[in-house]
Amino acid sequence: MSSGRSFYVTTPIFYVNDAPHIGHAYTEVAADMLARWHRQSGDDTWSLTGTDEHGEKILRTATANGTTPQEWADKLVRESWIPLLETIDISNDDFIRTTDERHEKNVQVFLQKLYDDGFIYSGEYSGLYCVGCEEFKPESEVVDGTGEFAGQKVCAIHSKPLERLEEKNYFFRMSDFSQRLLDLYEQNPEFVQPESARNEVIQFVRQGLNDLSISRSSFDWGVKVPWDDSHVVYVWFDALLNYITAVGYGQDDATFESRWPGMHLVGKDILRFHAVIWPAMLMAAGLPVPHRVFGHGWLLVGGEKMSKSKLTGIAPHEITDTFGSDAFRYYFMSAIHFGQDGSFSWEDLSARYQAELANGFGNLASRTLAMITRYYDGVVPAPAEYTEADLNVQRVVAEAVANADAAIEKIALHESLAAIWTVVEELNGYITVQEPWALAKDEANRERLNTVLYTVAEGLRALAVVLSPTIPKATTKLWTALGVEDSLGALTAQPIRSAGVWGQLVPGTTVGALEALFPRIETTNAE
Ligand code: MSP
Repeated sequence: MSSGRSFYVTTPIFYVNDAPHIGHAYTEVAADMLARWHRQSGDDTWSLTGTDEHGEKILRTATANGTTPQEWADKLVRESWIPLLETIDISNDDFIRTTDERHEKNVQVFLQKLYDDGFIYSGEYSGLYCVGCEEFKPESEVVDGTGEFAGQKVCAIHSKPLERLEEKNYFFRMSDFSQRLLDLYEQNPEFVQPESARNEVIQFVRQGLNDLSISRSSFDWGVKVPWDDSHVVYVWFDALLNYITAVGYGQDDATFESRWPGMHLVGKDILRFHAVIWPAMLMAAGLPVPHRVFGHGWLLVGGEKMSKSKLTGIAPHEITDTFGSDAFRYYFMSAIHFGQDGSFSWEDLSARYQAELANGFGNLASRTLAMITRYYDGVVPAPAEYTEADLNVQRVVAEAVANADAAIEKIALHESLAAIWTVVEELNGYITVQEPWALAKDEANRERLNTVLYTVAEGLRALAVVLSPTIPKATTKLWTALGVEDSLGALTAQPIRSAGVWGQLVPGTTVGALEALFPRIETTNAE
């Protein structure tokens, strides 16, 4: 089922200094929704996630916990980051760790090439460094501390004191690339999205770029600089390369060429690394730049970016233990405009769960199957003549699928779900108007009842297909209950872009029982 299109999507690789919170899970789910959508469209899809394990931040955390950074990273990956993928039902194709040999070795290959080609030189550096960001901070992002840090310079993001570093470093000639980057943003407006992010990046590069310090010599937790092992590679330079070392860069050219370039989903706080430094690195190495870098917003709690260090972190399982992974995925993808910040609250989650998933979609599915069971012994009837109301359902379904796909192309994930939800609303409204329970009372209306129930069941078939990337568990249950495995094949094998073609459900199919897809929840548990 290959469409010949190749689609490679990545999440940022996560720092292993702490366990995941729902902000991290948010990026994971978005990338997974895209990957599942493309996979189900027949695109040659590859999705990558992983962990960022080097650098001073991890070293200090490990030391503070009385262990080595490698042991610390192994523990966090095993106990927190890999289990996260199951908690929120991620279907990633690969998981890269920056301590993998395939990564470390090829970071050195990349660096050596840049060195040999004259893009790296050695110099002295002095600047204010934020270990939280793992970055030298420009003046514009340095603010005066308050409270316990009064009188000190602190990072605008972390509100923690900056450290003055003075050392001999290797530098990457990033300043050479300002104009080429501006040309890239100009010629390919899709490269950085959304528009607000693009403008910010252009603004930044227009001021001119400095060369970038890409090595550290005051500690040794990192990839050794190949020509000078008293230095380790700067953690961001190392981390960004995961996107290519994971798909064969330096060791498997055929795989690399078939996958790269990909597209990156990142939080807006790390957009500049991906939209400025990363393409400059690739240009220097003579490699293609990514197709696209999409910067999403932050999850806010109490109006502030949710974060563990500010003690507002919520672990993903706190939500999934009560609501399940499908609800987690649906809620964050539908309730927040992808690309903008969004506030999380338990009340909103509970309310949407009940209104949209339980009453809107779940109920629609269970009562449709219950009516087919009651009135037709579970056998899907053949439709008779279609009326205008039935044809309208068909139009809504076809448009919803087309609009959802167009929204996915723009990475407007919330818009894609809003398009799909027009079908849920249309079908619920249709049932209310057609009153199949009233039709069932009179044998003379049998043909009409056939058409109405076929229409709803076929609408549900389409819904299962287009909702499967977002709520894979519930739609799999629905698919089984619809009894279509034999006639249509597995749910994940249904070509998503043609899900709106009417009439795929074969009359005569026997449906089964369906447990509540989204059972009622005692909200007191969740608050
Ligand atoms: N290790 C770097 C990324 C290297 S990529 C080559 C990093 N890691 S991180 O663990 O700090 O953050 C990973 C991602 O989580 C970022 O995209 C960041 O924006 C996202 N989030 C962290 N807190 C968040 C929210 N409160 N809301 C949404 N996303 C947030 O940066």
